[in-house]
Amino acid sequence: MARQITGEGKTIGLVPTMGSLHEGHLSLIRRAAQKADVVIVSIFVNPTQFAPGEDFSSYPRNEKNDIEKIRLSGGDIVFIPKAIDIYPDDYQTYVTVEELTRTLEGTSRPTHFRGVTTVVTKLYNICRPDVVVFGMKDFQQAVVLRQMTTDLGYPIKFIIAPTVREPEGFAMSSRNAFFDNEQRSDALCLYYALRSARDMVKAGITSPEKIEKEMRAVIKATCSTAGIDYIAFNEFSTLRPVKKIAKGTICSLAVIIHGVRLIDNMKLM
Ligand code: PAJ
Repeated sequence: MARQITGEGKTIGLVPTMGSLHEGHLSLIRRAAQKADVVIVSIFVNPTQFAPGEDFSSYPRNEKNDIEKIRLSGGDIVFIPKAIDIYPDDYQTYVTVEELTRTLEGTSRPTHFRGVTTVVTKLYNICRPDVVVFGMKDFQQAVVLRQMTTDLGYPIKFIIAPTVREPEGFAMSSRNAFFDNEQRSDALCLYYALRSARDMVKAGITSPEKIEKEMRAVIKATCSTAGIDYIAFNEFSTLRPVKKIAKGTICSLAVIIHGVRLIDNMKLM
């Protein structure tokens, strides 16, 4: 199929997803439709990026709605592989990006990125995209995949699109479907913390320690039961931790709200 599209001289855009699509995903599809002639959207809840005990089996699935949303957003082809097609019996080949995966999400979820880079490599090989679009919402994932795309020599234009937020401010996420209204307002603590960090930087504060302390206080004040996994300050492209907030510093955090692990980030300068 991909060969045929390319043979007709058309370019292919690919937007990999795990389904349960929201406006964040749809913004990536629209962006891909601006950049390529044919847009493929994949839906695959990828087992290898979930560790035992994570939410693979309860991850929200909603394919019928997803297909309609994809059509309305400018997607042309929906690719929904079966696990057996991606990982046949006796599957044993993985793609790993080394340094960039040793920090942040990689520390808390040590096998996660290996699953992500492996499945995206397989999707590249099947869909043969000219353009791919990933979301800033998962900024480490985007940086890791960009590195992999360059390192393996794929001739693919790599686009990172901005995070789409709910009107109240928190980042759209398929996992928000787990929350009732009260829990949703608790989930706002990530956004409030990032906003306070940004405001402190605007006021001239450049110490990560000072900002982190305030962010922790904001999180606890918004949701007393929140479990903070990490709050970090890194240089965007290298993911190196910074000693002082500077141009290109990104603040990211992972917080467990009512048993659901949420992540978010914001460029501070
Ligand atoms: P999933 O969580 O479904 O996300 C698919 C894409 O949508 C990712 O590029 C993600 O960064 C982007 N996205 C999610 N929420 C967003 C938001 N609020 N605003 C903008 N973009 C958003 O990320 C994955 O799936 C998987 O790891 C995958 C790359 C598909 C590999 O399995």
